[in-house]
Amino acid sequence: MEIQKNLKFLRQKSKPVKEIDRSVYDLIDQMTDIIEQELGAGLAAPQVGILKRIILVRFSNNDIVPFINPVILKRSSEKDIVEEGCLSIPDQLVNVKRPVYIRIRSLDIEGDIIECDLEGLDARIFQHELDHLNGILIIDRVPLIDKIKRIFK
Ligand code: NI
Repeated sequence: MEIQKNLKFLRQKSKPVKEIDRSVYDLIDQMTDIIEQELGAGLAAPQVGILKRIILVRFSNNDIVPFINPVILKRSSEKDIVEEGCLSIPDQLVNVKRPVYIRIRSLDIEGDIIECDLEGLDARIFQHELDHLNGILIIDRVPLIDKIKRIFK
């Protein structure tokens, strides 16, 4: 499996997982291998060419956790700006502004509903990966001021 770098493909919206079957387990296994090889902080299914709502997040304790059909229930009004990279857009770092705290809901690999609060880098990675499921890339989140600076550089 290769990392998908075609922006047109990556800008598509992914479809919900209807049934957690063998194909989902296999996909998550393969995605886990890739995230370990690439030392990635997270990975979304479209990045391996599959338009399904599945993401993996490597948490600050180094656990790699899969989320199926993830959603954000609440976002803090407090935001911060941190430089992010993306395995699908090599050699580009982008300052991205995101809420610092989020409450999320998802299915785990057993199909059970999980709800939890995330903060800081964990929340940021989750949001970055969830963006992928909606066809949004970090280069789409560049603040206008940075775009202008880039043009006049
Ligand atoms: Ni990414």
